[in-house]
Amino acid sequence: MARAKIALIGSGMIGGTLAHLAGLKELGDIVLFDIAEGTPQGKALDIAQSAPVEGFDARLSGANDYAAIEGADVCIVTAGVARKPGMSRDDLLGINLKVMEQVGAGIAKYAPNAFVICITNPLDAMVWALQKFSGLPKNKVVGMAGVLDSARFRHFLADEFKVSVEDVTAFVLGGHGDTMVPLTRYSTVAGVPLTDLVKMGWLTAERLEEIVQRTRDGGAEIVGLLKTGSAYYAPAASAIVMAESYLKDKKRVLPAAASLKGEYGQNDLYVGVPVVIGAAGVERVIEIELNGDEQTQFTNSVNSVKGLMEACIGIAPNLK
Ligand code: APR
Repeated sequence: MARAKIALIGSGMIGGTLAHLAGLKELGDIVLFDIAEGTPQGKALDIAQSAPVEGFDARLSGANDYAAIEGADVCIVTAGVARKPGMSRDDLLGINLKVMEQVGAGIAKYAPNAFVICITNPLDAMVWALQKFSGLPKNKVVGMAGVLDSARFRHFLADEFKVSVEDVTAFVLGGHGDTMVPLTRYSTVAGVPLTDLVKMGWLTAERLEEIVQRTRDGGAEIVGLLKTGSAYYAPAASAIVMAESYLKDKKRVLPAAASLKGEYGQNDLYVGVPVVIGAAGVERVIEIELNGDEQTQFTNSVNSVKGLMEACIGIAPNLK
């Protein structure tokens, strides 16, 4: 069987890391695309030269022309600008919306059958706009945020409890921003919910709330440390898990920004929810029961996503 083709649209910090990981995991042949001349070509060559050392087979190439992504099975989109200290994800909206219009046209023309994973921020609004600009089916266009947010939560919890990250599961709902909703009663250590761990004296409710807040601020913490850009290792690893679930039809249950059609009482809106990703793309949106407080937080998060969508329509009225 021919190798899958993975197109990385945007070859900056996340794009380069995606290419490296996709190569190491032998997910397929990789095309790096960017408007910056030389960057995708240089990264492709550098990573290709690591292949003999690491022992993986993948054809890597770089391009500045969308024709190079022709027939891609998966497109992962990071094109746009990243945050600098003091900026919120929402500050990127105006610039990145225009980028999504170009990317959407490129994908529609050359890779209309691809599974598209958007990483560009502000995530929920950008993936919504990308789906509209590309015209691809809604179940084939998703946003990567929940895997990253829950990975951050898992890391902080494993560190707190001095247990393996493998035994910590975490659930994060809602938009990728300050209003995200880490769900403590659906997050566990080896199946034991965090709410029970509080009762068992593993940590106090106050300490748990601190960890939840650090998760919400997880991206900003890294922007503050790096000073020149935003996180890239964990975002890339998170998108690769989603691509792998699609390419191998693993049917992983992962939190992702998915298009809702009635689930959670929402329509024609992208927001973070648990989904099943398999060969058909987003095969199912899992609707979990929310208690009063969780519902309030989720509604608050949805409202902030809607605010960003309105701002997008203000700039590009054809999105309506
Ligand atoms: N088409 C294609 N590529 C573009 C375009 C465009 N119209 N505009 C910018 N780019 C490219 C840039 O040339 C750059 O190489 O997108 C790349 C972005 O890379 P970085 O600036 O290194 O940003 P990165 O850290 O990879 O993050 C990308 O993901 O998490 C989000 O907030 C983050 O929106 C940002 C995106």
